[in-house]
Amino acid sequence: MKTVLITGTSTGFGNLAVPLYLERGWTVVATMRKVAERGEQIFGKLKERFGDRLHLLELDVTVAEDRENAASYIEEKLEGRLDVLVNNAGYGLMGTLEDQTMEQLRLQFEVNFFGLAGLTRVLLPQLRRSRGRILNISSIGGLVTIPMFGSYNATKFAVEGLTEGLYYELKPFGIQVGLIEPGGFKTDFVSRSLVVAKGAEDPSSPYANLNRPFLKLLKVRAERGDDPVKVAREIVRLSEIPHLPLRTLVGKDARLFAFLRRILPHDLRVGLTAWGFFKLLDRFRD
Ligand SMILES: NC(=O)c1ccc[n+]([C@@H]2O[C@H](COP(=O)([O-])OP(=O)(O)OC[C@H]3O[C@@H](n4cnc5c(N)ncnc54)[C@H](OP(=O)(O)O)[C@@H]3O)[C@@H](O)[C@H]2O)c1
Repeated sequence: MKTVLITGTSTGFGNLAVPLYLERGWTVVATMRKVAERGEQIFGKLKERFGDRLHLLELDVTVAEDRENAASYIEEKLEGRLDVLVNNAGYGLMGTLEDQTMEQLRLQFEVNFFGLAGLTRVLLPQLRRSRGRILNISSIGGLVTIPMFGSYNATKFAVEGLTEGLYYELKPFGIQVGLIEPGGFKTDFVSRSLVVAKGAEDPSSPYANLNRPFLKLLKVRAERGDDPVKVAREIVRLSEIPHLPLRTLVGKDARLFAFLRRILPHDLRVGLTAWGFFKLLDRFRD
């Protein structure tokens, strides 16, 4: 029986992947923040159905003690068995660099990048033993920059670089490493998990003319997006296929943007992105 540990299972892709793994016979360590307060409400029914195969564990990826505790938990309760680590927890910081505080920028990196790197480090001894695999949830935003999301993009670009590095360095140990690069999916990502730059709602911001229409655009965007279960299914599929590809795009938009990135000369692509972005914003001006 195989074991997976997933971060950020309260909502979204991580949450949807849990029952899919369980139905396929996996043992799942579903981790989240504030598990004591909401774990039962979120996974109570699955716990009744799958009993000992579902483990709920407190894990804020920014807390070193929580990360170390995850490794001890696997050692003590699961006989040290870990086959797959899914680094899924993350959120998006929206807004210009100047409107953000350094604390906002640092926290964005703490969660999306350092949390992922820190957890991977402490679980590597177990993954080495099982010749397991690591699935890092990146984004199409890890390949192309989305205007007004530069800091989020920076974290996902960093995840892409680190994961590619891991791909090489873990090969000799038989550990497979993969990036999942979703496009826009309708999770809590835009509706709840998005953090807006501190100065973005300030009318005196030098970027007020960008922020006002962009915030309106985001509200509309929160209502849209593809079915997130597609990403959850992909996570499970990539855990089970014999050869894990380094990169897997999910969603038509992700595939389209990746295709354009491949075929268009760089200057033309960024020029077109700027043109399209400002045109789109014009639709949301007062
Ligand atoms: N949805 C999309 O369109 C999209 C596209 C590309 C990539 N992604 C990536 O997919 C991943 C999952 O996002 P999602 O779309 O499923 O959004 P989501 O529904 O907002 O889920 C994000 C999860 O991350 C958790 N999280 C945030 N900070 C955390 C921390 N410090 N420690 C542990 N968990 C933390 C959240 O938990 P709390 O409930 O505690 O906040 C939540 O469970 C993210 O890495 C995101 O960047 C999403």
